[in-house]
Amino acid sequence: MLDVEALRGEALRDIAAAVDEAQLEQARIEWLGRKGPIADALRGIKNAPPDERRELGLALNRVRDALESAMEERRAALKASSVTARLAREALDVTLPGRPRAIGGPHPLQLAEDALVDALHALGFQLADGPEVESEELNFEALNIPADHPAREMHDTFFVEGHPGYVLRTHTSPVQIRAMRRHAPAPLRVVTVGRVYRRDDDVTHSPVFHQMEGLAVGEGLGMQHLKGTLYGLCRAIFGQDVRIRLRPSYFPFTEPSAEVDIGCVFCGGDGCRICKGTGFIEILGSGMVHPHVLREGGYDPARHTGFAFGVGVERIAMLRYGVDDIRLFFQSDLRLLRQF
Ligand code: DAH
Repeated sequence: MLDVEALRGEALRDIAAAVDEAQLEQARIEWLGRKGPIADALRGIKNAPPDERRELGLALNRVRDALESAMEERRAALKASSVTARLAREALDVTLPGRPRAIGGPHPLQLAEDALVDALHALGFQLADGPEVESEELNFEALNIPADHPAREMHDTFFVEGHPGYVLRTHTSPVQIRAMRRHAPAPLRVVTVGRVYRRDDDVTHSPVFHQMEGLAVGEGLGMQHLKGTLYGLCRAIFGQDVRIRLRPSYFPFTEPSAEVDIGCVFCGGDGCRICKGTGFIEILGSGMVHPHVLREGGYDPARHTGFAFGVGVERIAMLRYGVDDIRLFFQSDLRLLRQF
């Protein structure tokens, strides 16, 4: 005789032990399936003594109902806990602070360059351009620096291996020739800015640095226009109260030539270590374009005159932002860059 109570107990333990729906289904097939013990026993009722058949049938039906509802409950519980687990797993804490996005900023050399170009743009100068690998002809000869000229040595030139006649430009002045050849004989006001190369390397010199160059050519241009332009430029860069001073100088491509000083931005003109007690700091070279250069550019020096100037961008940035070592501009040190 089948022990109905033992069967119920064992089946209920199985159902309770199922940890997911697959195991529960397994238990259902095992206990309530067509080949399970209950179905088996129901089929065997006909072999039981006639006076026990009714009792046995009722008992088996009760166990089946009990197991079915236990399974229903277990299924609901498993489903609820899997939803809870999933919710916990996929929880999104909307109160967490977001991940900040690192935002870059312009490099101090870029800022100095922009300030210089903007100031000249406002005076009607247009951007011009030239290559960093330049012909010796434009870098030197056309600028009145022939091969035997002592100024060649001051330029500490990098030559381009395998390409005789080509150099890494030592200054932005060759762009003067390029711009003039493109525009002659119309009047001209251009500014260019870019990398230049020289073989020196110390606290104030880098083998790669930046220059800005300005050039104006027209009829009747004189030193007064040069001085007015440079004064405007210096006021835009160093403030309205800046003082400037022109000193006679020499460049092969200008005649006359002048170096421009500004009142020392560190001591206000009283004299300090940085201005070596003079109260002035040199910031650029300039002059009236040499007739040889005008001719090379396609202009007739009898009719057109011009003025030009060249500025070291690093030098301007050092003075404007109080940076005392040029190498800081090339080291990508965030402690410096974050200050801009
Ligand atoms: N090219 C000169 C240099 O590299 C700078 C310079 C001086 C440019 C005088 C000019 C100028 O246009 O007129 O040192």
